[in-house]
This record gives sequence, structure tokens and C-alpha cells, in this order.
Amino acid sequence: MIDRYRIIGPLYDFLAMIFSFGQIDKCKCGMHDRIKPDMKVLFAGVGQGIDAIEAASLGAQVTVVDLSETMLRVFQKRIQGRRFIHPIRAVHSDIFKFDEFEHFDMVYANFFLNVFPRDVVTDLEEHLASLARPGGYVVVGDFSLPTGGLFARFVQNVYWRIADVLFYVMARNALHPVYNYPEHLRQLGLEIVETRYFRVLFDKRYASILARKNDAPGRSRKTFSLKSGK
Ligand SMILES: C[S@@+](CC[C@H](N)C(=O)[O-])C[C@H]1O[C@@H](n2cnc3c(N)ncnc32)[C@H](O)[C@@H]1O
Repeated sequence: MIDRYRIIGPLYDFLAMIFSFGQIDKCKCGMHDRIKPDMKVLFAGVGQGIDAIEAASLGAQVTVVDLSETMLRVFQKRIQGRRFIHPIRAVHSDIFKFDEFEHFDMVYANFFLNVFPRDVVTDLEEHLASLARPGGYVVVGDFSLPTGGLFARFVQNVYWRIADVLFYVMARNALHPVYNYPEHLRQLGLEIVETRYFRVLFDKRYASILARKNDAPGRSRKTFSLKSGK
């Protein structure tokens, strides 16, 4: 299997820090005050995993999943020699093959959904929601939907496109506009509980979105229905 993050993987967090003036890291941990000790927390497409490490430091039972061996190697290096109340479980897998349905209190997708093309991202959101327990949460940290006047939206779109094209070239990520994650999550029947924004210069560039899954048990993957993808 080709590891698309073989070259860019070790540089990923450094580039993200420069590109966002540190705001991407803040966004990734933007909902961490919701994490309580012993909670089961999943990080899908974890990458280098500062968010997962922070969650484990808060006493959560953390599972991380990533398809890239390179990313997981960097992640393992980062946790080497560190002790947590619950050791972090790292799974090398395609997230679509990870099937611990309704198991997690919180499922994180930080800067992960934007990797996928439009026709896959809705399936992936549905899959991630099916991994959260009834009443559990899905957290999406990503580029914020452009807002404001014409010029502000233009600048925000250009900002996103720079990252999009860069990652298309380096990791074959999909080319697409910024996704409307709150709308997608609502369409899956999740309630948007809170959104926190992270600014660069004048604009909201990144958002951490906390969405809550219905309390009713048994809403596993197959019972979700999507009206349309945006
Ligand atoms: C853009 S990086 C984001 C990494 C990390 N979440 C962050 O915010 O720094 C996307 C990550 O998703 C992983 N990934 C891509 N497709 C995947 C898949 N199908 N299943 C699991 N992980 C995947 C990549 O290997 C990469 O580590």
C-alpha cells in the first residue's frame, strides 16, 4: 500500500504551525475541555497526534487510527517514554475498516475530512458518527466555511486553496471547496452543540465543531440516511 504521507508526514505539523501561526494546533484541542478522565476517545486520521496526546494526558482512554505508517511512526516517537493513566492504543488501518461501532464517547476528525473528495466525505462522516455511542460526540476541527463580505470570503477561499493545492500535490488529497461540516452533521441527525473559531489576521480561519449524536441506541451505520452532500 502506498503511504501518501511518506514525505510530507514528518513535516506536517511544522508546516501547519507556520501556515496557521499556531492556530491549527489550538483548533485541534479546541474542545478538549469536554474530555473527562476515562472517556473513550477516538482520533481518526490522527497524524502526528498532539491532540490525542493531550487527550491522553487528561486521562482519557485514547485510540488513534491512521493509514500512514510514517505518521504513526512519528506519533509513536512523540509518545515514547511518556506515561498516561491509560496507554494510547494505535491502530494502523483504513478508517473505513475500523468497525468498533457505538463504542466511543468522542470521535475526533481533525483536519481529516478535508483529505477526501465530496462523494466520500459524506460516507466518512456517517461512518465516524456510527463509531460514537448514542449520546456521544463527533468533533470536527477544520477550515472554517468562508464568511463575511466578498473580499473577506475571497481571501479565505484563497487561503484554503493554497493548502488544498499543496496537499493535492504532496499527498494526493482531494481538490474541493471548503466543506460545510455543520450542515453535513445536521443531515446525519446530529445536533451542533458548539462551534469555536480560531482566527488568523482578521478572519475566522478554523473551526472546532462539537456535534452530539442522538441518545437512541441502535443508530448504527446502516440506519443513518443522507439527503445530499454539500
Ligand atoms: C491532513 S492529515 C491530518 C492529520 C491530523 N489529524 C492533524 O490534524 O494533524 C490526514 C491524516 O489522515 C490519514 N488518513 C488518510 N486517509 C486515511 C484513511 N482512509 N484512514 C485512516 N487515516 C487516513 C493520513 O495518513 C494523515 O495522517
